[in-house]
Amino acid sequence: MKKFLSIVLVIALLFTLAGCGGAKDGKPADEGKDAATETSDKPKDAPSGEKRVIKVSTKFVDEEQTAKSLKKVVDAINERSNGSLELQLFTGGILPIGKDGMEQVVKGSEWILVDGVNFLGDYVPDYNAITGPFLYSTFDEYFGMLETDLVKNLNKEAEEQGIKVLELDWVFGFRSMMTDKPIKTPEDMDGLNIRVPNSRLYTYTIEAMGGNPVSMPYPDTYAAIQQGVINGVEGSIMTYWGTGQYENVKEYSLTNHLLGVSAITISTEVWDSLTDEQRTIIQEEFDKGSQDNLTETIKLEDDYAQKLKDVGVHFHEVDQEAFMEATAPVFTKFDKWTPGIYDEIMKELKEIKANLK
Ligand code: G3P
Repeated sequence: MKKFLSIVLVIALLFTLAGCGGAKDGKPADEGKDAATETSDKPKDAPSGEKRVIKVSTKFVDEEQTAKSLKKVVDAINERSNGSLELQLFTGGILPIGKDGMEQVVKGSEWILVDGVNFLGDYVPDYNAITGPFLYSTFDEYFGMLETDLVKNLNKEAEEQGIKVLELDWVFGFRSMMTDKPIKTPEDMDGLNIRVPNSRLYTYTIEAMGGNPVSMPYPDTYAAIQQGVINGVEGSIMTYWGTGQYENVKEYSLTNHLLGVSAITISTEVWDSLTDEQRTIIQEEFDKGSQDNLTETIKLEDDYAQKLKDVGVHFHEVDQEAFMEATAPVFTKFDKWTPGIYDEIMKELKEIKANLK
């Protein structure tokens, strides 16, 4: 009997140990660091048969195109990796997003964050400079900027801070004002509380445009409008339709002040601990996903604009010159930007625009 009990104890212990070192599935998000640390010293070619579980966290809700394209990416990666990778997609901000989501990346969690390029700006400030107000009037102009050495160097700087940038081009449209009253000039923004992502770039921009910026995660905005805490949000047509915000506010003023674009980021520590094959699969599928997201977004923007009009949303042209003039000082507000970065961006942009003609 004693011998039997010892055998049972040994087996139980073995099970416990296996549980500690196995897949990180199901752990709370803030335990991710331990998961990443556990794997960080592993040889690059991890033994076959071992599954890596990586959480993909995003603010986008399932009805939005970016979430739909991400779902395809995650499914394709899981299928293609033959069980060596399990990416788990968490939409609607269920897990940390924004600054908190980026912290998970930086601290080495098994984690992919899909959120605004501006959250990279908290670590490499010049990312905010390349996504500043009114810089681009087409997606292609922004894509041209991504090809420059300037941006490639930013990605290297991010790596030095522990952030591997997989993509910077998941666009979801130019951002305009969805509010409870029409806006035509900066004066019309006076007294309006406008929700912005938790980012200085957005705060400064909305302030310069004449409004009161109120930072909060997007998923909180629906209730905040209903409770009268904010008068509206700024965002794209894709956001307006996809998140059902038209149920709350019905005036869309076309400021097009910032580009809605997501970065896909992962910890360099985690990235380096994956096998070459796993890295290739992840990178290739996210590349395909960004193309899918772009194609669908371009297709859907007009469709969604019509749908919004059909449910009673009014579209308004604005005095764009006035807003551009008002936001010019935003580019002087960031003391951590590289001196001369604005001029460099404008030089690149001039060339990009000439090449696109
Ligand atoms: O689902 C929210 C998304 O469409 C926009 O989020 O934080 O960039 O305004 P955000």
